Amino acid sequence: MCGIIGVVGASDTLDVLLEGLERLEYRGYDSAGVALVRPGETWRRRAAAGVESVAALRVACADAPGDARTGIGHTRWATHGAPEAVNAHPHLDCTGRVAVIHNGIIENHAAVREELEARGHHFASVTDSEVLAHLVEESRAAGLDLLDAVRASLAVVHGAFAVAAVDADEPEVIVAARRVSPLIVGTAPGVSYLASDVPAILGRATTFYAVNDDEVVRLGPEGFRAVDLEGSPIRLRQLAIDWDLETAEKGGHDDFLSKEIAEQPEALRATLADRRRRDGAITFDELRIDDDELVAVRRVVLVAAGTSHHAALVAKYAIERWARLSVEVDIASEYRYRDPIVEIGTLVIAVSQSGETIDTIQAAREARRRGARVVAVSNIVDSSLAREADAVIYTRAGLEVSVASTKAFVTQVAALELLALRLAQLRATLPASDVEALFLGLRAVADQVAATLARHDAVRDVAATLAGARDFFFLGRHVGFPTALEGALKLKELTYRHAEGYPAGELKHGPLALIEPGVVVVAVTTDPALHAKMLSNLAEVKARGATVVAVATDDDDSVEAVADFVLRVPATEPLFTPMVDIVVLQLFAYDTARLLGRNVDRPRNLAKTVTVE
Ligand code: M6R
Repeated sequence: MCGIIGVVGASDTLDVLLEGLERLEYRGYDSAGVALVRPGETWRRRAAAGVESVAALRVACADAPGDARTGIGHTRWATHGAPEAVNAHPHLDCTGRVAVIHNGIIENHAAVREELEARGHHFASVTDSEVLAHLVEESRAAGLDLLDAVRASLAVVHGAFAVAAVDADEPEVIVAARRVSPLIVGTAPGVSYLASDVPAILGRATTFYAVNDDEVVRLGPEGFRAVDLEGSPIRLRQLAIDWDLETAEKGGHDDFLSKEIAEQPEALRATLADRRRRDGAITFDELRIDDDELVAVRRVVLVAAGTSHHAALVAKYAIERWARLSVEVDIASEYRYRDPIVEIGTLVIAVSQSGETIDTIQAAREARRRGARVVAVSNIVDSSLAREADAVIYTRAGLEVSVASTKAFVTQVAALELLALRLAQLRATLPASDVEALFLGLRAVADQVAATLARHDAVRDVAATLAGARDFFFLGRHVGFPTALEGALKLKELTYRHAEGYPAGELKHGPLALIEPGVVVVAVTTDPALHAKMLSNLAEVKARGATVVAVATDDDDSVEAVADFVLRVPATEPLFTPMVDIVVLQLFAYDTARLLGRNVDRPRNLAKTVTVE
């Protein structure tokens, strides 16, 4: 996700910005840029060199003016537009005096851009963010000061943002605002700072303040004042920060894994933002495949590895149910070696967080070689897989540092289910009202995930009781089965305990022989249609001495009869349950691993990205 920094009143403005951008590197980025402001002049440099972008930017800034006291800087994690210098922030208005940096997604950017272009504005990039620079320009031309110009601009846009704007005509001012995307303000005598994260300004600012949603802040050397979107004064809440740099990079969490688990609501919101046109059509800006081709699809094959494979398994149920297309799911490393059949109308969807997993890339290559159209679902813009595929959908989860995938899973499921709804629209297999209800339901999942995260204490207690267990079976039916597979994968990679995921109905066909006292059975029981069957499976394992942990909805009052422990989750549409239910299983694996003293960010023997077969 993008990083933001700003400073006003400094004598070493460029150093503050570059140091801050370096400290934001852990967020992941593919390009970087700064703008320095002096009276009457906005000076800008940008660089797109992947993880070397800040270093390249430092070189590009060799001729920077030394007397600028105001500046803004940005590291970009591409969502709209390729990771190229032209799309890097800051973006300028038509006059070159206003500069804007933005983290988030402007959902109605296409419509706003069209209107601005019709009024004569010239756009230099294909980003959603650039509309903000031109909106501010118009309000400034109408006589508003920078604070009011930013407020007026934000009234036009929908979506998520942390934004900061400067103008050469108000050279000692930065105006910043927030909705959803993080933003903080810091102060020190004679200097004010803003940043997306504390580490960017740690050691510089002495006092920190939180900017909340729909708050706008005007920073000057003397300090700041904050208003709401209507312009009424407000007070910002002071933050108690006594972190060192390492803690700060983890956002105050003990490790990246817990940070990434906590980021899932935000990651889901970002993945689903900007995905529906005014006429109700689900849209993927980045897809590069037209509707006629999607209408012609007769069969879908999903290829993926590990956690991404589990997300693909969930997608099978959604695409078959909603779009009435036959779907196969293949483990990527198996696909190319089994002489796969690719008929006319076969759409292959290759799912990979990193977009660099060699097995998935090879499977996608093989599918294309045999004539399939390939859509990549990736978290990394311009990853190898995204470049090689015919089309791409980005999951916008932000950087995932921890080896164990968490936010990648929920965002992959969300993106794939969105695609399933698009296919259903094009094939007219669902009434428009159903698509609308499902789309809104999908958007509500982020709140259900947040509610589930708030119950962490209850999960921690169960993990503490069962930390000594050595054998775990994870059971589920329907989409509860891939959820069980993913829950088992999280437990085995984080704790090194033996854990197996099974379809609950398969238990009697062999694995039941392994059930005995000491074995823990974790069961996903959240689908009402299969609830009775799940409970009878649990009665069978309980009768053989297993300890039963059930993931159950809040309104389920029968599960306690067969479960020793119940992990509660909010009820949701059955096909959305994997995104909610997996959260308690992630927390369970995380807590158990911590109790066992494991390194939760870097489990033994594993790599984040597997680039060898
Ligand atoms: O980057 P990818 O999604 O292609 O990675 C696939 C797997 O290597 C990955 O999901 C792996 O299984 C994770 N460590 C699971 O937590």
